[in-house]
Amino acid sequence: MIELRDIKKGFGDKEILKGVSATMESGKVNLIIGSSGSGKTVMMKCIVGLMTVNSGTILYNDQDFTAMDEHEKKTIRQEIGMLFQGSALFDSMTVEQNVMFPLDMFGKGSYKEKKKRVMECLDRVNLKDAAKRFPAEISGGMKKRVGIARAIVLNPKYLFCDEPNSGLDPQTSLLIDKLIKELTLEYTITTVINTHDMNTVMESGDHIIYMYEGYKQWEGSNEEIIFAKDEKLNDFIFASEFLRDAKEMRQMEMFRDKNWRDRLQGGKPEK
Ligand SMILES: Nc1ncnc2c1ncn2[C@@H]1O[C@H](COP(=O)(O)OP(=O)(O)O)[C@@H](O)[C@H]1O
Ligand SMILES: [Mg+2]
Repeated sequence: MIELRDIKKGFGDKEILKGVSATMESGKVNLIIGSSGSGKTVMMKCIVGLMTVNSGTILYNDQDFTAMDEHEKKTIRQEIGMLFQGSALFDSMTVEQNVMFPLDMFGKGSYKEKKKRVMECLDRVNLKDAAKRFPAEISGGMKKRVGIARAIVLNPKYLFCDEPNSGLDPQTSLLIDKLIKELTLEYTITTVINTHDMNTVMESGDHIIYMYEGYKQWEGSNEEIIFAKDEKLNDFIFASEFLRDAKEMRQMEMFRDKNWRDRLQGGKPEK
């Protein structure tokens, strides 16, 4: 689990994160959503240590990451997998060499063992046949899958993905979301995804953190989001009439479910 306690980050006199507290749970797909410029990427960079916060605390399984020295931070970083925007593959390396890269940097074991692990991961993302190809020779969706294979090759406890669906068509986006979700459950990873893809929110977000102008405006599950009363959240998520209709239908569907009806009628505080 990752816990943020009142983190603040600014550049010069420009405040970007204005005191954010949130939790990201293991075995769950945790989404950070919000309009462009709301601070999602800055927040992710702070969490993984690519940027340092001005104040506040970041805990990895109750260990204070913000108070660690470089050596201690390195041990946490080795448990982190990252899928960067645009996949960020090395163009001069084959698919297989790209996935091998983290193993060569941090992994132990013989070449044969490493190669076995690379092929396992490529198999997992359905890319075994593309091992010898170069990034320029494969599609955008395949590149993302190579990026995912590279991110999981060291068996990370934490997986961070910044806009994993950017540049992909809707169908491929759904496949990538599904793959990330499956891996999260299979290996009980704490997955954190920055996105503004509403399909992702509705289909695979277990836990959602909505950022608005540097504040955490709302936090809850993708079931709670259907009933959420927060006006800014609703304006953002259900921006079109089509989505507002879809929301109403989902509400009616959930209302037929007794557990939800009890919960909604039982006076539980609404988020
Ligand atoms: N290194 C930086 N120096 C100064 N300002 C930055 C830097 N990185 C991001 N920002 C600013 O922080 C704000 C939030 O950016 P970002 O986190 O990238 O938004 P998002 O990912 O939600 O679209 C933007 O106004 C951006 O210009
Ligand atoms: Mg961003």
